[in-house]
Amino acid sequence: MPIVRLLMVGPPGAGKGTQARRLAERLGVPHIASGELLRQAMADHSVVGDQVRDYVERGDLVPDELMIHFISARIDSADAEHFVLDGFPRTVTQAGALDLALQEASRPLDIVVHLTATDEEVVRRLTGRRMCPVCQHPYHMIYNPPADDEKCDDDGSPLVTRTDDQPDTVMHRLEVYHRDTEELIHHYDKQGLVVTVDGMDGMELVSERIDKAIEAGP
Ligand code: AP5
Repeated sequence: MPIVRLLMVGPPGAGKGTQARRLAERLGVPHIASGELLRQAMADHSVVGDQVRDYVERGDLVPDELMIHFISARIDSADAEHFVLDGFPRTVTQAGALDLALQEASRPLDIVVHLTATDEEVVRRLTGRRMCPVCQHPYHMIYNPPADDEKCDDDGSPLVTRTDDQPDTVMHRLEVYHRDTEELIHHYDKQGLVVTVDGMDGMELVSERIDKAIEAGP
């Protein structure tokens, strides 16, 4: 499989984080996940963490200017020659900023994986999700349970429910996705970069589909 600069786009709960982690590990490239970076900043009570907390907990998008500033240092870093990017950009304004930054760094995107799942499946996945508060590994109590009760397989930490996985907040996040983020597919389609992968089956089958889509290219 070629080493790539890949962006994963899709609704909340489609499995972006699950698949992006696996893929980055297989490719040996960084997994840059905006949601994970924000939750880490919130847990650290950094200035940015305190600025974004209300947005994240309500399921609203963090304002573009703040988000672009927050993520750009990570994308510009030396180890990000190749990457699997997950959760950023989320608006056309953010996509414009990313396009410019990658162009200036001569690191253009190779492919955009549009991972699909229905709203009903998203609700099932997110309301059953548990997360490791230390390494942020996502589990699902039915589809992907931890080996030992409610503890992380990797570091043994007790799993938690994300505050934004409450049913009302999940419904709001879906509305925000359809309103503000879905149009990104069109933005990248115009650049000839999008492959659409059906995310509705089990994790292994979805991983295989993503591998094949990358091999075939956009
Ligand atoms: P973020 O953390 O990026 O959340 P999200 O995009 O809503 O995505 P999720 O993490 O909820 O879902 P996922 O698609 O990664 O699914 P997962 O693999 O975990 O962002 C959180 C918040 O931060 C945003 O709401 C916003 O406030 C803010 N933010 C972040 N980036 C921003 C930006 N660029 N601009 C502005 N604000 C920003 O899977 C879900 C569950 O399903 C898990 O339990 C998993 O085990 C299970 N599962 C996965 N795949 C399968 C499968 N194939 N079959 C069955 N179960 C599966």
